[in-house]
Amino acid sequence: MDDHTCNSAAVKQRARVAVVGASGYAGGELLRLLLQHPYVEVAQVTSQRFVGRYVHTVHPNLRKRTLLQFVRLEDLEPCDILFTSLPHGESSKIAEKLFALAPRVVDLSADYRLRDPEMYPVWYGWSHPDSKRLSSFVYGLPELHRLELRGATKISGSGCLATAAIIALAPLFAAGLVKTEPVIIEGKFGSSAGGAEPSPASHHPERTSVIRTYEPVGHRHTAEIEQELALVGGVRPKVHLTATSVDSVRGVQTCCHVFLKDPAVTEQDIWKVYREAYSSEPFVRLVKERHGIHRVPDPKVLTGSNYCDVGFARDPHSERLVVISAIDNLMKGAAGNAVQATNIAMGWPETVALDFAGLHPC
Ligand SMILES: NC(=O)c1ccc[n+]([C@@H]2O[C@H](COP(=O)([O-])OP(=O)(O)OC[C@H]3O[C@@H](n4cnc5c(N)ncnc54)[C@H](OP(=O)(O)O)[C@@H]3O)[C@@H](O)[C@H]2O)c1
Repeated sequence: MDDHTCNSAAVKQRARVAVVGASGYAGGELLRLLLQHPYVEVAQVTSQRFVGRYVHTVHPNLRKRTLLQFVRLEDLEPCDILFTSLPHGESSKIAEKLFALAPRVVDLSADYRLRDPEMYPVWYGWSHPDSKRLSSFVYGLPELHRLELRGATKISGSGCLATAAIIALAPLFAAGLVKTEPVIIEGKFGSSAGGAEPSPASHHPERTSVIRTYEPVGHRHTAEIEQELALVGGVRPKVHLTATSVDSVRGVQTCCHVFLKDPAVTEQDIWKVYREAYSSEPFVRLVKERHGIHRVPDPKVLTGSNYCDVGFARDPHSERLVVISAIDNLMKGAAGNAVQATNIAMGWPETVALDFAGLHPC
């Protein structure tokens, strides 16, 4: 694939950035990364609820890292890069204000992920209020869109479950190895994927120890998974997605069931496809051990890191191929991926501010 070197001419001075929705979980993770980013100065951070409060009063891990205080969205000043991390449907509502603030916008919500405006009423239940801008956005997954990201001025984040599923399956569809129907994906989520806003479902006695399938059908990320796999494979696959909450704070694991077109395809053939797709990718690792307890991807060891681990097993009993992928939802599933995409857009080294290896044990 590409080199990940820096275009030093692009790094004359630090870019001034602002984070909208910085009191949330994804916004807080963005801050953790951006505050240690050598080419960035975090100028302003917003929260409507915590105006005037120091960042560390909401994100205690950032104590002694910054003396920034939250400001109201209405008090934002122009900057070089605007990161928006608002709930779905909010940034497109105030698009004119947001896009006037910066020449580069990176939106972590779903508002600019889908190319077809008709998909928003179907999957999100609302008509897109700013559909004219959809085509100007690059879907911010570097593994699929690195070339388009170079110099991009509008970047949409990818959904956390969608990120894990697309990285797991894209090489198979690109190689034409698997059928486009059925594609069955089981997604398991830690609680931080639901954001910082409490709800009855997130109340500790209700949320702890759960294995709760909260969306057997109809998960919104289906739309972006189908969109992106259609781009690599040429045919829109039929994705059947089920989402289950599990008892962790961070982490998404997807277990994808796809079916080989040719029953003669072997494990070695599949290895070759993944190796060719991902050997140069800085944040994708193939995990397929014969022995030990870490034989398949497990989000637990990815906590705080930007890696996506991918493993697979070819079922000898049938033509089924099981592909398992894991990420930290707040990193490769949100903030880490957004920083990686921004690094590419700005001509900075792709991995800058993202070199944390994760923790073991944790
Ligand atoms: N959590 C994840 O794992 C994850 C992964 C991928 C993508 N995302 C996406 O990232 C976005 C943020 O997610 P999150 O989990 O960080 O959510 P969150 O923890 O609930 O944070 C939401 C943020 O938006 C602000 N906000 C809410 N409504 C607002 C409004 N009407 N006007 C201005 N500010 C408003 C909140 O500020 P106040 O302090 O004022 O309430 C808070 O800072 C979502 O679109 C989500 O889908 C999240």
